[in-house]
Amino acid sequence: MKSHVMVKDVWKSFDQGRIEVLKGVGLAVQEGGIVALCGTSGCGKSTLLNVISGLEEVDRGAVRVAGYDVVNESTRVDLLRHHIGYVFQFHHLMPDLTLAENCLVPVIAAGGSRASGMDRMHELAEATGVGHRLKQRVRELSGGERQRGALVRSLMNDPELLLCDEPTGALDESNRERVFDLLLDLVRARGRTLVLATHDPELARRCDRTVRMRDGRIEDDNGA
Ligand SMILES: Nc1ncnc2c1ncn2[C@@H]1O[C@H](COP(=O)(O)OP(=O)(O)O)[C@@H](O)[C@H]1O
Ligand SMILES: [Mg+2]
Repeated sequence: MKSHVMVKDVWKSFDQGRIEVLKGVGLAVQEGGIVALCGTSGCGKSTLLNVISGLEEVDRGAVRVAGYDVVNESTRVDLLRHHIGYVFQFHHLMPDLTLAENCLVPVIAAGGSRASGMDRMHELAEATGVGHRLKQRVRELSGGERQRGALVRSLMNDPELLLCDEPTGALDESNRERVFDLLLDLVRARGRTLVLATHDPELARRCDRTVRMRDGRIEDDNGA
């Protein structure tokens, strides 16, 4: 099967090289793969997801998603608009827009109409338990509602690759289970690829494969 995500010998530092975070990371994820990216806080999970999505530039190395060269500037925006869904660690919803407006942003950015996104938005919002919050401004929502809203937004364009950064960190146990079940169901049913950063071993266990980051590298890999 083809690699959907291919990261090869990627190096990434911050602060003019003073903070070295990724030190030769390699990772290949097959199409339809469901991968948990584990490791202690600060080991570089978010940085790696940012690198895969093209939001963060690399110092050196190669990153390809669905055959696109992510390091190459010109394909990056296209990838993000049409191909990748991203649930950020800190939701990144726009606080003064309603949840519904936030969810429609990626639809419009990808060239869709408002109307075309409505049914999907309602369906996803009901399933994640924020259907009754769609008309509310994001600043009025709880942390958990924002996180669930961010999940809805990330799924609006039915992305082939979903990157989730601690997507259930702000949820209580029952909502965490519910949202994670939904996430896995959606991804599995449609054969989508998921890379999930988490420090929750329980969530990692339910993925098909776990990779652990340590000291700037992928430490072990039970599914490569
Ligand atoms: N923009 C940045 N500038 C400086 N240091 C950063 C930046 N982003 C991340 N780092 C540092 O890189 C390391 C890895 O961060 P991160 O990828 O967020 O780890 P994780 O998601 O595993 O907790 C941390 O030490 C963090 O402080
Ligand atoms: Mg992180």
